[in-house]
Amino acid sequence: MVNPVNLLAENPLREGLDETNVPVAATIVIFGVTGDLAARKLSSALYNLAHDNLLPQPYTVVGVGRRDWTDEKLRDEMSKDVAKFSRTGINDTVWSGFAESMFYQQVQFDKVEDYHKLGERLDQLDRERGTQANRLFYLAIPPDLYSEVAGFLGESGLNKSDGYTRIIIEKPLGKDLDSARVLNQNLRKVYQEDQIYRIDHYLGKETVQNIAVFRFANAIFEPLWNRNYIDNIQITVAETVSVESRGQYYDESGAMRDIIQNHVLQVLSLVAMEPPAVWNAMDIHDEKVKLLRAIRPIDPSEVGQYSVRGQYSEGSVEGKQVKAYLQSDEIAPNSTTETYVALKLLIDNWRWADVPFYLRTGKALPKRVTEVALKFRNTPLTLFGKAAGTPTPNRLILRIQPDEGITIRFDAKLPGQAVKLREVNMDFRYGTSFGVPTPEAYERLLLDALLGDSKLFARDDEVDVAWVLMTRFLEGWAAQGITKLPQYPAGSWGPTEADEWIEQDGRSWRRL
Ligand code: BG6
Repeated sequence: MVNPVNLLAENPLREGLDETNVPVAATIVIFGVTGDLAARKLSSALYNLAHDNLLPQPYTVVGVGRRDWTDEKLRDEMSKDVAKFSRTGINDTVWSGFAESMFYQQVQFDKVEDYHKLGERLDQLDRERGTQANRLFYLAIPPDLYSEVAGFLGESGLNKSDGYTRIIIEKPLGKDLDSARVLNQNLRKVYQEDQIYRIDHYLGKETVQNIAVFRFANAIFEPLWNRNYIDNIQITVAETVSVESRGQYYDESGAMRDIIQNHVLQVLSLVAMEPPAVWNAMDIHDEKVKLLRAIRPIDPSEVGQYSVRGQYSEGSVEGKQVKAYLQSDEIAPNSTTETYVALKLLIDNWRWADVPFYLRTGKALPKRVTEVALKFRNTPLTLFGKAAGTPTPNRLILRIQPDEGITIRFDAKLPGQAVKLREVNMDFRYGTSFGVPTPEAYERLLLDALLGDSKLFARDDEVDVAWVLMTRFLEGWAAQGITKLPQYPAGSWGPTEADEWIEQDGRSWRRL
């Protein structure tokens, strides 16, 4: 048995943590191990945790799938995935230890007897490997199977054990408020809320976690962080990727369900919430829910006032030709699924009353940028005369990705005999300030789930309020009965309608 304290000492990523932050012995059971999420994200996240000595001691990984694979086949496939996707590459010694801890179990998801067999295998592995019946189940399967699989896990008794049993699921958690509630009820028939870990991978990003640290570990920003000083806040998730091979999922989903309902609302919650009394999961979730509940729900008939949608047409992104969304594989030729959406939300509380939050996201845009931009109110007057130029309102930009960092933009005097104002940047960059590698979001989240720490996961009521708010928009759009959405050429910054829409408020989008 490895001494946990030594592990901590050897590892810079564990700086500041103590032995209570080393997870106890456990088995990680990945349902859908033969699928895309497991291949792209989970295998390399687990491998990198093993590489950094952060996995429980001892640990076992059990891959579960419908295919007739063996332990050897799983190890082979995973080694290819890790070599391709891992941020640290693949190291033979680490890999062989990791591979020895990995097993495959075939399960037809609708056959209860297969779940019993899985249970027997897990018991046997517990005995052989000393994993003490602590089990983390990851449902990396199509979301329409969540209820069924959770039901069978319950029926076969796999929702409980002599250790802990936790389950991780990931969005989409429903399609709208009703379906999200049904899913939650089905899960709650089998699991207690504190056993359920709802992943939003944005919460695992270093820069998103840093929003809270920036706000609550510094004294100079928070006094300005309110309606007295801030004119508006823009949250952008711009993607260069198009729908690619995900047509079937995306056409059912669209930008609102794919990005806004989860990732963007989570970021917004962290930007706008009050400081929690204590930095623990319950208090953080409480504050986020309080914030989300203060967002003014729109009346569906006002949807045109509070949102704009668009769909990309043919164009080129980063020099590559992109075909129109409507011409893409698995997309209905008359689809009205949005690939771009912009919303305005108002938060009716003391801190934020009348400060608009503009949210936008889109596929096939010219640049991959995720950021939060706070625009401050202007100076009360122009002191330096016309020739100096009008002061530009200050901006504070939290750059979530890429080029992670924080920028403050302010006016300075241009050197010379006359007074002339010029906007300059004060910049913090993660890349240059810290010499440690940044873990992937899934590494952090898997580790937290193993530690039983749900701070960076979404609680059921957070997801519920988010759906309450977003369903108003979905209903409003459905009632509009639009048969063709505003188009924007792939490689442009969204439909011109989005610019006109924000200009009606006397504002404009930040140029990225
Ligand atoms: C996923 C969405 O949740 O987030 C994808 O389903 C999107 O459509 C992705 O591309 C963006 O994540 P990231 O980490 O690349 O910003």
